[in-house]
Parts: sequence; C-alpha cells; structure tokens
Amino acid sequence: MFAQVPGPIGIFDSGYGGLTIFDKIRKRMPAYDYIYLGDNARTPYGPRSFDVVYQFTRQAVERLFEEGCQLIILACNTASAKALRTIQQQDLPRWDADRRVLGVIRPTVEVLGELSRTRHIGILGTTGTISSQSYTLEIEKLFPDMTVTSEACPMWVPLVENNEYDSPGADYFIRKHLDHILAADPQIDTLVLGCTHYPLLWDKIKQFIPQHIHVLAQGEYVAASLENYLMRHPEMEARLTKGSQSRFMTTESEEKFAEAASLFLQDPVEVSQITIEG
Ligand code: DGL
Repeated sequence: MFAQVPGPIGIFDSGYGGLTIFDKIRKRMPAYDYIYLGDNARTPYGPRSFDVVYQFTRQAVERLFEEGCQLIILACNTASAKALRTIQQQDLPRWDADRRVLGVIRPTVEVLGELSRTRHIGILGTTGTISSQSYTLEIEKLFPDMTVTSEACPMWVPLVENNEYDSPGADYFIRKHLDHILAADPQIDTLVLGCTHYPLLWDKIKQFIPQHIHVLAQGEYVAASLENYLMRHPEMEARLTKGSQSRFMTTESEEKFAEAASLFLQDPVEVSQITIEG
C-alpha cells in the first residue's frame, strides 16, 4: 500500500508538545531523517473521546506512512493511551506489517523502577490520558509493588499552546494540581510529566514542589528507548534514511507553527500546512 522504502522516522503529536520528544530524539540520533506532524488545528486531544482520538491519530499515522515514514513515534501520551493499541493490532497489519508505530508510555514507565525509592509515583497528564488508566495499568504490570496516584491537569496544555504558561495566572493552575496530588499521597518521590507539553512548565513545577521530588520528563527516555529498539531491530534500522533532514507538517497555519516551534527548538523550522481529515 505504501511503496517507498527506505524512509524517515515519523513523529506525531496533537500539537507542539511532541517537539519536546522530537528534540531529544534528533539530538541523540542526528543522522536519521525525520518528519514531524502536529495536528495543531484539532489540538487539544486531551478532552476528546477514545474514538475521536483514535480516528484523528489513525489519519495522522496513515499520512506519515504515505510520506514514506517507516517507523512512527506517537509523541503524545493521549494518542499513545487511546489509539496506539488499536493501530498496532488492527490497522498496521492491514497497511504494512513491516512498518512500526511506537508510543511513549511504556518507555517512560520502564525507567520508574530505578528512579523511585519510596515506590510512590504521581502521574500528571491530560484528562484523556488519566481517565484511560494507561499509566496505572502499565506500572501495575511492570512494578506491582508501586502505589500510583494520578491527576488530570486540563488547563496545562492550553497554557502552553497559548504561550501563557509563564504568566502569573498560570501559577494558580500549575500549583493547584501539584498541591492536590501531593496531598493525596505525601509519599510520592517521583512525578511523571505524562504529557509532552509539560516539560515547558518544568521551572514552574520545580518551584512549587519539595526539592527531593524527582520530576520525570519523557524526552530523553523515549530517545534512549528508540535507540535501543533500533539496535535490537536491524531490519527496521536498514529501512531508515540517513540524510540528517527534518521536515515539519502542521494542520494549522505555517506561520503559527514556525513561531511556536521556536519555543521548543533552537533552529528555525521549515514547515508546510496539510489537511488530514479522512
Ligand atoms: N501533548 C499531548 C500529550 O502528550 C496532549 C496534548 C493534547 O491534549 O492534545 O498527551
């Protein structure tokens, strides 16, 4: 169905948040070619139903495959929680069983074993990610001794997408959820930023929590996990082009994307607007 082999690595997010993952992946593995797709016109995915997040993500993944991508990272926790499994099990075998779609939840959970001493973990995420229970279930599987407390932070993505996260008004919403989760379980020693937008709130979050609490941003762990995956799967590694080129696609305006992307990345981006409604 999708003819071209080899091709780039695709990185998908509902908006800009996945750029925090893309940045770490590209820094770790600069030789590969990448296509980043942000569905900015339809962001946020967080409050949307399971079915809508699946439909939107499936359309985006199909588009990235059409562009020649061989391996796609869903750099969005909401999409990883609500769409990854169905895409892997139902769509991929139908499209092309040799291509791959990977998520960000599993590689994040895998590192928790080494990070937490108290074995009490806090998960911060969108309403969709938290209500899917994906983190809780994955942690139960890998680390049954851990206690997990979750908190949906529905205002955090809009604060980042609208570049309002550094304003005094943002502090109220950032603090509210941190206070709430730490009151629910004072033994938490590791807080997972279970949304790719949240690393932009890093400084604020650190300001509002006790110093001993470890804050886990996913980018580096997802990048390390991808590198490891490619070492274990030479057949996939051989399908990837290595021209050190990155392209960006957005469903919103090119100007808006280029401007916002500069908050996340050091280099200017070359971006084209696309439509992916299917
Ligand atoms: N950045 C996405 C995530 O990791 C969610 C943003 C959204 O709500 O669209 O969950």
